[in-house]
Amino acid sequence: MELVIKDARITGREGLTDIGLEGGEIASIQPGLKGEKEISAEGNLVSPSFYEIHIHLDAILTEGDPRPNQSGSLWEGISIWAERVKRLTPEDIRARVLKALRWFVAHGVTHIRSHVDICDPSLVAMKTLVEIKKEAAGLIDLQLVAFPQLGIFSFDGGEELLQRALEMGADVVGGIPHYEHTREYGVQDVKFALDLAHRTGLLADIHCDETDDDQSRFLETMAAETIRLKLGGRVAASHTTAMHSYNNAYADKIISLVKKSGMHVISNPPDNSVLQGRFDHYPIRRGLTRVKELLAAGVNVAAGHDSVMDAGDPLHTAFILLHYGMMSGRQDRQHLFPMLTSRPAAIWGNPHGLETGNPADLIVWPVPTEDDALRTIPPRRYVIKRGRIVAETKPEKSLVLGETVKFLR
Ligand code: FE2
Repeated sequence: MELVIKDARITGREGLTDIGLEGGEIASIQPGLKGEKEISAEGNLVSPSFYEIHIHLDAILTEGDPRPNQSGSLWEGISIWAERVKRLTPEDIRARVLKALRWFVAHGVTHIRSHVDICDPSLVAMKTLVEIKKEAAGLIDLQLVAFPQLGIFSFDGGEELLQRALEMGADVVGGIPHYEHTREYGVQDVKFALDLAHRTGLLADIHCDETDDDQSRFLETMAAETIRLKLGGRVAASHTTAMHSYNNAYADKIISLVKKSGMHVISNPPDNSVLQGRFDHYPIRRGLTRVKELLAAGVNVAAGHDSVMDAGDPLHTAFILLHYGMMSGRQDRQHLFPMLTSRPAAIWGNPHGLETGNPADLIVWPVPTEDDALRTIPPRRYVIKRGRIVAETKPEKSLVLGETVKFLR
């Protein structure tokens, strides 16, 4: 074996084992393996690496520029960004993105799906990110969504820009129906995006119903079009926060329809825990989509960060989802790691998990269990991409000092 991780603890498996990596894949999982190079997990958890399935790399690290978001609301954020877009240059994008990518790697992220705003006639962000994607391959895989932040039909030339972005190298078709000027434009937005995905053979990921408006119901159009065009597992709906506010009878209907369509859902707990409920007086709604109910119905649900303070650790996403999604029960907690690993990988279309033959994309933790990782959010001991160690953090030790705590020694 090229690399062996000794004394690893794997969720759902009794005792410790070794994991042998060869040719970029997991070649063997059993005790007693020998490797050209060996590292020890020291009895701690080894998990699949993280997929950051929803982030906006073009906007990363722009907080406060050109002015701070005083209200902290999504609408103020979008209007500030619309000003910032006009000053984007390749150098500016490159400097911010490369800095953030290093942080992602250290957090154990090996794959990033980034939405890239195409409501800019120069398309400089998409052009630059297509270049960065090629350069970063092998260290971190990028998947780029052509994302019409200001609408496909509400922004001048939106349809053409979306198509040009795909020709330029975007991997995924985006949309934003709830942000379009009218409900009719919103329906057109979904139909246009999914028709493009159908014709090009690409995936689709639409910002859908990211609002508290219980009348925002574009998810039903997405599901119906996905069924009609037989797009099944190629379509993901991001956010879908309005579902939080739907009446329960309608929510039940839409969850069944989403399941029937084979669509994926991506929840964004860090952003939506602070962005939703902005028009409420007390009590203030949480505003996450119905994650537990979707999972119970058999829908593939993953979790992404979106953008709060940018380049956040995926564990923050799970930590916030655990609390705001009321997923504190033992069974619910067991969904959290898969929502950052195997579930987003399925949206991407990749095999991912601790099984032989899968890509050797792994995290070696300094703690024994997923619960301990969520509780302490520790630095990752090793991050492994395609069998190669790409990040390492030396263990930190805290000493408890002083006479008064003698009994602890
Ligand atoms: Fe987003």
